Amino acid sequence: MANSVSTQPPAAATPGHSSLLRVIAMVILALIVLMGLAVLITWLIIKPKQLVYTIENGTVSNFNLNYNHLNASFDFKITVHNPNRRVSVYYDSFDVSLSYDDQTIAFNTLEPFHQPRRNVTQLETKVEARDAALSGGLSKDLRHEKQSGKIQLDVRIKARIRFKVGIWKTKHRTLRVLCPSVIAHFSSSKISQRTYCDIDY
Ligand SMILES: *[C@@H]1O[C@H](CO)[C@@H](O)[C@H](O)[C@H]1NC(C)=O
Ligand SMILES: *[C@@H]1O[C@H](CO)[C@@H](O)[C@H](O)[C@H]1NC(C)=O
Ligand SMILES: *[C@@H]1O[C@H](CO)[C@@H](O)[C@H](O)[C@H]1NC(C)=O
Repeated sequence: MANSVSTQPPAAATPGHSSLLRVIAMVILALIVLMGLAVLITWLIIKPKQLVYTIENGTVSNFNLNYNHLNASFDFKITVHNPNRRVSVYYDSFDVSLSYDDQTIAFNTLEPFHQPRRNVTQLETKVEARDAALSGGLSKDLRHEKQSGKIQLDVRIKARIRFKVGIWKTKHRTLRVLCPSVIAHFSSSKISQRTYCDIDY
């Protein structure tokens, strides 16, 4: 009698326990599947696309090279294309630097801005060399470039950006853009070509 009583509760409890466990397992599984679907659907709706940077119309003015020190203004038109239909971009900082022969000769910081979805923004960018100290070799090369009427530079952009999707903003990330071998002319009449930039973030 005592034996049968003591064996019965476990026998009754075991199916109850296992079905409860099964229900919990199924709920967890269903939640995981739903979360996965939500992420997939969000991704498909947002369809994030790369930003596209191009640069054109480089001109050099106020070029003054004395005692291996350079003053000059470089003007470029940077075109930023955000092709995303649901993602806008906050640029919280935007630094542009020019390098010649791997030496940075000019630098500028642009105003922070917000780029709406599906937008093309053109940034008329002036980058100045102010009494930049150059090596003797570099000065010599730049004098030759001046005589040839154009100069070839690498334009680099470093920006702190956040993406915004709906009301949700991502964390900050650093955007690095390299526009290699951009030509800047000493006279603005020349038609300059468009250079596509490499981007990384
Ligand atoms: C550059 O400009 C600064 C101030 O405008 C001046 O003091 C300096 O001598 C200039 N340097 C050259 C190389 O012209
Ligand atoms: C892109 O956004 C800027 C700044 O909000 C705006 O001034 C410009 O008109 C927009 N351009 C296009 C093509 O939508
Ligand atoms: C930029 O280039 C276009 C032709 O490609 C020209 O019409 C325009 O005047 C140039 N702008 C500057 C500031 O040089």
